[in-house]
Amino acid sequence: TRSIDLAVVAGDGIGTEVVEQGLAVLEAAVAGSDVKVTTTEFDLGARRWHATGETLTDADLESVRRHDAILLGAIGDPSVPSGVLERGLLLKLRFSLDHYVNLRPAKLYDGVTSPLAAPGDVDFVVVREGTEGPYVGNGGALRIGTPHEIATEVSVNTAFGVERVVRDAFARAQARPRKHLTLVHKHNVLVHAGHLWRRTVEAVNAEFPDVTTDYLHVDAATIFLTTNPSRFDVIVTDNLFGDILTDQAAAITGGIGLAASANINPDRTAPSMFEPVHGSAPDIAGQGKADPTATVLSVSLLLEHLGLTDESKRVEAAVAADLAERSSLPPGGRVRTTAEVGRELAARVAG
Ligand code: IPM
Ligand code: MN
Repeated sequence: TRSIDLAVVAGDGIGTEVVEQGLAVLEAAVAGSDVKVTTTEFDLGARRWHATGETLTDADLESVRRHDAILLGAIGDPSVPSGVLERGLLLKLRFSLDHYVNLRPAKLYDGVTSPLAAPGDVDFVVVREGTEGPYVGNGGALRIGTPHEIATEVSVNTAFGVERVVRDAFARAQARPRKHLTLVHKHNVLVHAGHLWRRTVEAVNAEFPDVTTDYLHVDAATIFLTTNPSRFDVIVTDNLFGDILTDQAAAITGGIGLAASANINPDRTAPSMFEPVHGSAPDIAGQGKADPTATVLSVSLLLEHLGLTDESKRVEAAVAADLAERSSLPPGGRVRTTAEVGRELAARVAG
């Protein structure tokens, strides 16, 4: 038997609802095999912060670290000042556990309606850098609240940090049929960081000679994501550009309810973390309206990361079949609840 110790951070809002279904599908995927999943739930998020003032203590972090992987629902609540949980919990997890590859697949599944009239065959992945860039919190404000206020957020890009994520992106591109990598940045304006990224892509390309590359400024990339998304295979970009582009990528492939992500520590010095791209959606929390599909696809990424490739494929196939069937239902039909979607996906996975 192989045992998987999973840390579960359901978090806020719809996080708890979608994680419950993600776990049910995970259970179904390993049922009958020699894999046993043990879960530890972590009380982190808005409730904990209100009760104790804590976001993520050293003890929490040490405990999370002892697991094989993390499944996260969503973090954030309007009752908590903006940035407290985002920085103190979510980003702290990503940074402390060295999740330098923030992997966000964008695939338009059969039967899913894109807002684009002619999206074509959309199937690309964004490798978003996860530990540097403008997210590091390197900045400050002077003369706050005065007309002379100065606010800075300095983007940090290190040769070490850029090279390791670029190398990971090349490896992913090499493993895909089209073997193409697009660097997205803005080196005509952000010359310091931009040229570091460009030089790094050029240098690492020598290790992956069969991978073709091109470059797009981020503004142009948003145009192509709308006009010709099928041109993309693997995109590598910094933390903030990647944040923005992956929301757009989700929008063109059926919406944020379907978008999965993996915060990966490729060196495996700490557990990787799997989470839907969407947030806590407080407006629909507790109503059973959230689509658990993004979480279930994140579970598929989790299984793949743990080397459970067949299980991962079965979960993705269940989602693909469910999405294909949704499109054949008569319009205006009853929308399934979070639990119903989860139950049907789990049943498909169980076969
Ligand atoms: C995401 C989110 C986070 C991010 C926020 C909540 C800190 O938007 O996972 O994309 O910016 O990375
Ligand atoms: Mn985002």
